[in-house]
Amino acid sequence: MKYSVVTASPAEIVCDCLVVGVYENGQMTPSAQAMDRATGGAVSDLLSQQDAAGKAETLHALYRPAGLKAARLLLAGFGEAGKVGENDFLKTLQQIARTLHKDSTVTAALASSEVRVAGRNAQWNARQTALALENAAYVFQETKPSAKPPATPLESVSILASKANRAKVRKAVDQGVAIASGMIWTRQLGDLPPNLCTPGYLARQARSLIREDSRFSVKSFGRRELEKRNMGAFLAVAQGSAEEPQLIIIEYRGRVRTKAPIALVGKGVTFDTGGISIKPSSAMDEMKFDMCGAGSVLGTLKAAAALNLPQHLVGIIPATENMPGGKATRPGDVVTTASGQTVEILNTDAEGRLILCDALDYALRFKPRLIIDIATLTGACVHALGKHASGLFTYQTQLERALIAAGRESWDRVWPLPLWDDYQGELDSNFADIANIGERYAGATTAACFLSRFVGDTPWAHLDIAGTAWHTGKSKGATGRPVPLLTHFLMRDAQKS
Ligand code: BES
Ligand code: MN
Ligand code: ZN
Repeated sequence: MKYSVVTASPAEIVCDCLVVGVYENGQMTPSAQAMDRATGGAVSDLLSQQDAAGKAETLHALYRPAGLKAARLLLAGFGEAGKVGENDFLKTLQQIARTLHKDSTVTAALASSEVRVAGRNAQWNARQTALALENAAYVFQETKPSAKPPATPLESVSILASKANRAKVRKAVDQGVAIASGMIWTRQLGDLPPNLCTPGYLARQARSLIREDSRFSVKSFGRRELEKRNMGAFLAVAQGSAEEPQLIIIEYRGRVRTKAPIALVGKGVTFDTGGISIKPSSAMDEMKFDMCGAGSVLGTLKAAAALNLPQHLVGIIPATENMPGGKATRPGDVVTTASGQTVEILNTDAEGRLILCDALDYALRFKPRLIIDIATLTGACVHALGKHASGLFTYQTQLERALIAAGRESWDRVWPLPLWDDYQGELDSNFADIANIGERYAGATTAACFLSRFVGDTPWAHLDIAGTAWHTGKSKGATGRPVPLLTHFLMRDAQKS
């Protein structure tokens, strides 16, 4: 899709579909008022006849409206004027995006940046508009040839802006497109079946970054190299699988070379059966999404490059399957991690922390100024927060504030959960330095406590995305979260440096 930011009067815009916002009780955005005047009152007529018009998520179309150059005028309801919240705005945007992609619209113009969303501005609206349009165009086709993209895809989009806002809105649209390109890659990787999206596939996908952009370098280690590096915990998870595990290391070097890097560590379990502590079979297919942390690291790095971010970024992805079998790890096995600490593996289904602990230890080699790990780590986090917020665990108040702020700004939100010493004792083992599970409750926290043992004094945050990385049910599929969160965090960090 091609985007332009235009300041023309909406009545003069030639396109297949022009979208303007309306509110409940007949109230209109400035563009809708202009359309009402240009059409001799057709807009207010429609609003007075349709009870639902103006309510959030409702769309009403006027075909060939006299007085306009657009072939179709779409009146998009955003809710009560002055009370439009982020969710009203984004849900309506999704409806608009779906409608525009569905029928034969090739050129569209949207006046969505002037909708008044409480606490937001034109740039925020424009960024979200581009994100919604791009995400709605995503169709998973790799293993479903019958899923056809629209016959006449949306090709050119004009975003209406005031003259004063034009440059800022243009920048916001570019940001939206960049973030979406990362999200869509993350979604694609998550949606791929586990027989195709293997650790080796993830390593090859990571390598594709080098071809796109010379600021990337990528390497990966297989089983032999992991043995050489004493990554006993990672290897313990991988040993039941016929697939070769991969530790994938991606470096992005922006223009600022003086600062220490930021490390992003993503859980890449391409299929989690639970291992010998096997999971129940219902919905086990969804454990192909257990590499969404890894996917979000790749997506964020792609977005960072598209945005020309200045930082030095290191992505570290431990990728493996977690399978049962004659060679698989047993509950009770004790392994030695790369850090030297021993772990008693009491439950082979708590595998994410086992691969992450060796990856976190590896991240320390880069002397990063901060580490963020991203993992579909615990069902307990889904119980606590559901699908709306990712769990955030950190000891650093500054980092906590920055991630919460980035979540609010991107509307890809996080919520803090405790990482107190009180819980650490649950990881005591009679036979090793650490057990890999805690007691029955607070499983998201005890998992985070386990990871905390491997980062030393380096500022570190852990994001549990088990509830946010994919949709279940009818619209099953990866969401692309938390790419918007991480990208916004990096954009803000770049402003500070
Ligand atoms: N990948 C799962 C976490 C998960 C579960 C994500 C359900 C999304 C939905 C992880 O590897 C896991 O199995 N965790 C266990 C830990 C337990 C054995 C301590 C869990 O959450 O049940
Ligand atoms: Mn598991
Ligand atoms: Zn898992």
